[in-house]
Amino acid sequence: MNVPASAPSATTGRRRLLTGDRPTGPLHLGHLVGTLHNRVQMQENHDCWLIVADLHSLTTRSRREQIGELPELVREVVVDLLSVGIDPQRSTIYLQSGVPAVYDLAILLQMLIPASRLRGIPTIQDMARNAGITDDEVPLGLLGYPVLQAADILMARAEVVPVGGDNEAHVAIAREIAEHFNALYGPVFPIPQAMVSSTPTLPGVDIITDGSRRKMSKSAGNSIRLKDTPEEVARKVATLQGPGAGKSTPEALERSPLFAFVDAFVTDRGVASALKYDYLRGTIDDGRVHEAIIADLEGLLRPIRQRRAELTADPGRIEEIVVDGTIRAREVAYQTLGRVRDAMGLEGLWNGLVEATQKRAEARRRPY
Ligand code: TRP
Repeated sequence: MNVPASAPSATTGRRRLLTGDRPTGPLHLGHLVGTLHNRVQMQENHDCWLIVADLHSLTTRSRREQIGELPELVREVVVDLLSVGIDPQRSTIYLQSGVPAVYDLAILLQMLIPASRLRGIPTIQDMARNAGITDDEVPLGLLGYPVLQAADILMARAEVVPVGGDNEAHVAIAREIAEHFNALYGPVFPIPQAMVSSTPTLPGVDIITDGSRRKMSKSAGNSIRLKDTPEEVARKVATLQGPGAGKSTPEALERSPLFAFVDAFVTDRGVASALKYDYLRGTIDDGRVHEAIIADLEGLLRPIRQRRAELTADPGRIEEIVVDGTIRAREVAYQTLGRVRDAMGLEGLWNGLVEATQKRAEARRRPY
């Protein structure tokens, strides 16, 4: 029972990793290069847990119609994960709201972080702004977003947390809470480590005339989705603009959305260099670069589409994977919650009440 806090998970001996997504829309190429490829690789030598964070999506999307969209959105994220090569035999995919022990844990962890610390986190302000929520209307749940995320991470006893740069501050909160908890009540939690993606962010496919790059994002509507058809992919890639064939500097070329795609998706480095060289000389135009990108992108997306078709042709398969993963997550969550309640003395408090009650019942049963 007294397992050291940093022990690798007993079943696999591999370090536990937790990351995941809010189910707010289909995943896209930005996710693929920024995190999904990494997840597929990490599942080789980590005990990989992937959360579908529907409770986190409620922090800005709590209307009835928005909740009504969740079944489809959850399914969609899971299909995306599996289609890129997440293996449900090796990775645990689970639904956050299906693990109620996490809410209990979140309440207890809330005691260990000042509200002022949370108010200063830029992502909370950004999320509020994007959802059209004014400062006065920020729900307590949105302010507590990072605490709920800390509960996810700590309940899983995760050691590695791969996230985008924006979520690094949330992992920092999880670390602070874990350290504070351990100092107050004893060594219960491993201290999680953020792993921030180093791949450059992928620009969106919206037409940008001033040469600036807006990142590809679900909400900006400028994404190439993993589930897009070859026609949609080709049409979107064709909107990417280069800095002007034959009249650009190498620096402007490197900054352009068009060549960001070359760097991300043209697999042969020699071909990528030749494209740049020829473009600078003006012997090829945007159209030729689009073709090269589309060819390699299709090589990447074809097997993903194939797996998606297989999965969706098997009724109940996706649901079964989520249910299995969520049951596994529940077991670990209850174990962790048990240790937390023990360490804090809450288990003792309850047991004391129960014991006294039992004694009284026994006393009543005695005839004299
Ligand atoms: N906050 C993450 C996002 O931006 C989702 C998330 C919820 C998460 N819980 C997590 C990520 C735990 C890593 C670990 O969508």
